[in-house]
Amino acid sequence: MFPPPRHTLATLLLLAGAVWCSLPSQSSTVAPRLPLDYGVSGPNVNVSTILSAVGTPYCMRRCLGRLALAAKKLLAFNETTARFQDLCSAFAATKECLDARIHCGPRNVYDAVTSGMEYTCVTKRASFDRVEPCLREHVDPILQTCDSSCLLRANLSAFSTAPTVQMAAQIGGNLLMVAKHLPPFCSAVQCALPCILERANAVCPLSGWLILDSVLQPFDKAAALFAKAPPLMQQLVREQLSDRCAYLFDVTSLADMRKGKF
Ligand SMILES: *[C@@H]1O[C@H](CO)[C@@H](O)[C@H](O)[C@H]1NC(C)=O
Ligand SMILES: *[C@@H]1O[C@H](CO)[C@@H](O)[C@H](O)[C@H]1NC(C)=O
Ligand SMILES: *[C@@H]1O[C@H](CO)[C@@H](O)[C@H](O)[C@H]1NC(C)=O
Repeated sequence: MFPPPRHTLATLLLLAGAVWCSLPSQSSTVAPRLPLDYGVSGPNVNVSTILSAVGTPYCMRRCLGRLALAAKKLLAFNETTARFQDLCSAFAATKECLDARIHCGPRNVYDAVTSGMEYTCVTKRASFDRVEPCLREHVDPILQTCDSSCLLRANLSAFSTAPTVQMAAQIGGNLLMVAKHLPPFCSAVQCALPCILERANAVCPLSGWLILDSVLQPFDKAAALFAKAPPLMQQLVREQLSDRCAYLFDVTSLADMRKGKF
């Protein structure tokens, strides 16, 4: 079978939101594990498994440990704004680390996946700082409520413990094995976005729009890539990801979501 260009497929899968940072692997050697999943409070999401399953090269993973850990702590939805500041620091440190490792390969996938962090931590820093004191008081219960109705973390957890995903991790990454498990997660994202938008805007004016805009950044990047991909490639990805995910990678539906139409 015609092998799909790994970059594009990888980006689409990654940007489905199940992973934070990755690059398609050039080798299929079994990668050593990172110790970052041990002794961390937070949901039962195994970030190492996810990173390995999508084939992140080990030389990049050495830089990604701190960022993955910060992402995992953020998912506890406890003192979220403080954990988000940590995530911004980790993001800056990771950028430095990766800058010193240009031999690891192109960074476009990583940049796309972390574009939401770039947006909120750097580009829209001033807007974030304005809503931060209000969000600090209110955002935790909002995230927890929306998570209990949409099962976002339960999906991430199920994803990282699925036998096929674990097997993909063991063999150094296999995107098609991973793709099968994404659609339920896409449904959870689709459910959580309007939930968070509405509740955040209600208590901290405009904050919901900022959160939404930030979360949608990587999907914008993926949608742009998808629109440029060859038809065969688009079909292959669509088959793997189903309609539930296609919606999140579509330029038109993304524009609608930004107007609050879900
Ligand atoms: C994460 O998954 C890997 C296998 O992919 C396993 O070795 C490791 O113990 C897991 N970590 C936790 C905290 O479960
Ligand atoms: C939330 O985090 C604080 C410290 O960051 C900790 O003391 C507290 O126990 C945590 N609460 C929950 C419910 O995990
Ligand atoms: C994933 O999320 C969807 C949508 O909220 C939900 O129907 C499904 O039960 C969740 N799956 C798991 C394993 O949590």
